[in-house]
Amino acid sequence: MNIVVIGAQWGDEGKGKIVDYLAGDARLIVRFSGGANAGHTIVLGGEQYALHLVPSGILYPDKTVILGTGMVIDPEALFNELSGLEAKGVDWKGRVLISDRAHIVLPSYRRIDKELDAARRKPIGTTGRGIGVSYAMKASRDGVRLADLGDPERLQNLGEEDRAWLAQWAERLAPMSVDLVPYLRAHRNAYVLFEGAQGALLDIDTGTYPFVSSGMSCAAGAAAQGGVGPRSIDRILGVFKAYTTRVGNGPFPTEFNPSSQSALDSYIRETGREYGVTTGRPRRCGYLDLVALRYAATANSIDRLVLTHLDVYDELDEFEACVAYRVRGRLVEDFPSSVADLAEAEPVLRKFRGWKRPIGAVRAYEELPREARDYVAFIEEYAETPVSMVSVGSDRNATIVRESPWIRS
Ligand code: GDP
Ligand code: IMO
Ligand code: MG
Repeated sequence: MNIVVIGAQWGDEGKGKIVDYLAGDARLIVRFSGGANAGHTIVLGGEQYALHLVPSGILYPDKTVILGTGMVIDPEALFNELSGLEAKGVDWKGRVLISDRAHIVLPSYRRIDKELDAARRKPIGTTGRGIGVSYAMKASRDGVRLADLGDPERLQNLGEEDRAWLAQWAERLAPMSVDLVPYLRAHRNAYVLFEGAQGALLDIDTGTYPFVSSGMSCAAGAAAQGGVGPRSIDRILGVFKAYTTRVGNGPFPTEFNPSSQSALDSYIRETGREYGVTTGRPRRCGYLDLVALRYAATANSIDRLVLTHLDVYDELDEFEACVAYRVRGRLVEDFPSSVADLAEAEPVLRKFRGWKRPIGAVRAYEELPREARDYVAFIEEYAETPVSMVSVGSDRNATIVRESPWIRS
C-alpha cells in the first residue's frame, strides 16, 4: 500500500511529525522532492530531531528510508546530518538508500543560488542551499546524478572545484545508491510512505510562482519522482496547520497585520515556536486560509486532511479563518494564479469561538472541546475533504487518529 503525505500550505505544516507517526506501520519511507531547504522536526521523548535530507522514519531502528529521484542532494549536508543522528544514537548504516537518478547539489550551485537571489529586484528569500540552481541544471540537462558518478564523461563539464569536491563523496555514496523503480517493484506488497517536502503552495507548478521552491512538492511528485506510477498511489494526505505560516517572500493574504494584529502575531509565533528549522528565520504568521486549502486539496487529489497545531489556539477567546478574498472590490473564492491579485487580496474572515483549555493531552477525537470540533467540521465542509488525524503537540504521541490511513476504505 502506498500513501503520500504532502504539505497543503507553504511548508512547515508538521509533515515530519506526521510521517514519523505513520512510519510506525510502514516498511519503507521514500522522500520524493526538495533537498536541504527542508527542515522536518520530530520530537520523541523530549528529544528533538531536525531532518533536512533524511526521510522521517529513520528514528525507527527497523525502517529503510530512501532519498527519491526528485530530490536534489548535497552530499556534504547529508553526511553531516547522518553524523548528527549517529551522535544521538541513531544507527542509520545500511538503512539509508538514495535513488541513483537523484541529482547532486554542487558547491557552485549554493554560491550561484545566493548570488541570483541577491540580484533579484524582488528576492524570493531562498534558503541558499543551491536548490533552484540544481533543478535548473537538471532541466537544462547539465545536472549530475548519482548514476553519473562512475562516468567520467558526464563529469567533464564540471569546474575544477566542483569536481574535486565531488570526488571525496563518490565512494561513500556508492553503497547507498539504488535503482528505485525495480526496488519498489520488488517491495510492491510492502507498506510504503512517500514523504513530501515544502508544500502545495511552494510547488513549481501549482504554487505562488515565482515565490515558490523549484521542485515538485505536489502529490503528483510522488508518482513522477518517487519511483512508482500514478496508479500505484492508494491515498494522499495533506497536512495543514490550524493557522498559516510562510518563510521567505511572496503573497500571503491572511498574514497578520503588524500594526493591528501584532499581539496575535507574537502569540502564535512564540506558542507555535514559528522559527525556521533550516534558516532560523521567524516565520510569517496568519489565520487559516481556506481558499488556499481547498485549492491545494483539489489540485492534489487530497483524500484526507491532517490538521496540526490545533493546541496553539488553546488560549484564544476567538479566532478567524479566511473563507473568500476581496480583490479590488470583487469577491473571489478560487485561489488566484496572479501574484499581483494575491498581493491585493483582502481576506473575508469568519469568526470561531475558542475553547480556552489545554488539549495537548487529548487522544480521542470526541474528547476535544465542542468548539474545536466545530472548527474541524467547518474546515471539512469548506474543503470538501475529511480530516482524518489531528495533532495537538509536537511529540509523536500527541496525535489523534480518527481513521488510520493504512486501513483500506
Ligand atoms: P515540516 O517541515 O512540515 O516537517 O514542519 P517543521 O518541522 O518545519 O515545523 C513544524 C513545527 O511544529 C516543529 O517544530 C514541530 O515540532 C512542531 N509541531 C508539529 N506538530 C505540532 C502540533 O500539533 N502542535 C505543536 N504545538 N507543534 C507541532
Ligand atoms: P519544509 O519541507 C518552508 C521556501 C523558502 C523560500 C522558497 C524558495 O520544511 O516544509 P528554495 O531554497 O527552496 O529555493 O527557497 O521556498 N521554502 C520553504 N519554506 N518550508 C520548507 O520546507 C521550505 N523549503 C523552501 O523559504 O521562500
Ligand atoms: Mg519545515
